Amino acid sequence: MCGIVGVIGSREAAPLLLEGLRQLEYRGYDSSGLATINTQEDSSCGHLTCKRVKGKLGNLNALVEKEGSPGHLGIGHTRWATHGKPEECNAHPHRDVSGEVAVVQNGIIENHRSLRQALEKEGVEFSSETDTEVVPHLIARELKLLSKDGRQASGAMLLEAMHRVSPNLRGSYAIALIWAQTPDALVVAKRQAPLVIGLGEGEFLCASDTPALAGFTRTILPMEDGEIALLTPLGIELYDEKYKRQKRSPALLSGVEHVVDKRNFRHFMLKEIHEQSETAELWIARHLPTGLPLELPVALPFQDSFYEGIDQIQILACGTSRHAGLVGAYLLEQFAGIPTTVFYASEFRYAPPPLAPNTLTIGVTQSGETADTLAALAMEDARRQTCNDLKFISRQLGITNRPESSLSRQVSNILDIGAGLEIGVVATKTFLGQLLAFYGLTLAFAARHKRRSYEEINTLSDELKALPNQLREIIKQHDAISESLAHKFSETQDVIFLGRGINYPIALEGALKLKEISYIHAEGYPAGEMKHGPIALLDTKVPVISIAMPGVVFDKVLSNAQEAKARDAELIGIAPIGSETEIFDTLFPMPKVSEWISPLLSVIPMQLLSYHIAAHRGLDVDQPRNLAKSVTVE
Ligand code: M6R
Repeated sequence: MCGIVGVIGSREAAPLLLEGLRQLEYRGYDSSGLATINTQEDSSCGHLTCKRVKGKLGNLNALVEKEGSPGHLGIGHTRWATHGKPEECNAHPHRDVSGEVAVVQNGIIENHRSLRQALEKEGVEFSSETDTEVVPHLIARELKLLSKDGRQASGAMLLEAMHRVSPNLRGSYAIALIWAQTPDALVVAKRQAPLVIGLGEGEFLCASDTPALAGFTRTILPMEDGEIALLTPLGIELYDEKYKRQKRSPALLSGVEHVVDKRNFRHFMLKEIHEQSETAELWIARHLPTGLPLELPVALPFQDSFYEGIDQIQILACGTSRHAGLVGAYLLEQFAGIPTTVFYASEFRYAPPPLAPNTLTIGVTQSGETADTLAALAMEDARRQTCNDLKFISRQLGITNRPESSLSRQVSNILDIGAGLEIGVVATKTFLGQLLAFYGLTLAFAARHKRRSYEEINTLSDELKALPNQLREIIKQHDAISESLAHKFSETQDVIFLGRGINYPIALEGALKLKEISYIHAEGYPAGEMKHGPIALLDTKVPVISIAMPGVVFDKVLSNAQEAKARDAELIGIAPIGSETEIFDTLFPMPKVSEWISPLLSVIPMQLLSYHIAAHRGLDVDQPRNLAKSVTVE
């Protein structure tokens, strides 16, 4: 949620900030801004320029191009509104009353109300509705106190002001701040929101995420919670919460794709849907290489001991990642025989179930930054750590597309889904990657716990190997069908998605995708549940999309579809061609694969149909309203 970037060095800051923000726009895009400090020839003090705009980053580019924003030091921000509407006055950077201190922040200052009231009592006038604005005012107050003590304006003084203010801020934040009186100092602070420092040639940078740094440097220093740092043209000083100097070696950005390129596709989302055959190919090469023994046809990502003594699994996640978790739970229970429960991370945080023994907790998050998922995992870890009984020992696994994220610093066992950078705000190829991670775990647990015969395990593994070609074919075919169907949805206001068993989560995912990018109201139901209420909604204006893949519930789903047809609903089927599936008005033909692997294919028409409906409506598919790629607030 929100992206921040900062730079200090020998080059003009504004173009670097704008480029960094472009890479962070997926984190929020309702307004943006930057502030730079230009050194003045006749004084050691600088001049602070601040530019802010409502709307997409293009507006900020235009403003900076027109009016300029000089200086070699600067901070920038792209916003996803939490406190206050997306208006220019609420856009970052926020400044103190003198206009000399400027701050950008990502996260939420939870106690901002009481801080604001106290500052207002002291006579401070606020100019925005944001939680962030308390920070520059608090910093300015500390700077005043420090100068009264005889301190000269310096980077060290600005750092100390941040150190004094930090304990008063509750909540999560990544902050970058500059002060006109110190044109050679950029101060940053981090608590429960991502912030990475970049060490470039002749410049130092900071950003909420690595893609904003990748164009400038591959040498990075991820900050830890509670740390603050001073960046000057000469180097970095890093301090922990207790203000003790820290020495840590920088790391190198891994060689994963960091380039934002749409190739020939109209939108990133469409490109990313098409990339899924490649995602599957890469996953198979890594996890199901040829030559593995029959008794274990999957390359285990963890040591044997990881799988031992696990009697149950709990999965914590949000949104699409939770849907992947639901498919995972079906596989782990029904194929590998391990009782598995899935929780909304945001619910689990405040109402966890009683502690169960010998439990593996899995956090699923493509971004690795989702605040609810991280907090739920931390809370679960903490309550297990305080238990003396070995049965309740904490064992956690994180499934993510961002191995350098906060999740990886929090959880020791990480499964990198390796789907490559996903720019479209809605998850497509990362969902497929998460599903594949669960297939790998299912094979591993089934083999390790000996719950399935070698034959069954090898059959599932062989079916997965056929996936890339099947994906390639149906993506091509369903892309064309979806495009020709999209116009039928121009007036549609509600859509119902039905699925059963392992495909019920895919119905949920189909409904979520459609809501997110087309703004059409959609709900996913277990097909058998429709007659218990939702059927009342059906008429000619409410299309029903039904997933009917061969397997134990095939006939049942078809009967449920018939019930919808009898109420005049337009019926769209995700099913194999055959006499039974002639009931559908439109059919997305599916290969006759085993039910186990069917979700990996049935999700494709869900993604493509949503995409084409939204694109046909002329909507901003890659940056839908009100959403952000990583939800770093509670
Ligand atoms: O980064 P995460 O996977 O933890 O994100 C969780 C949800 O915010 C995310 O899946 C959201 O539902 C997406 N917009 C789905 O397209």
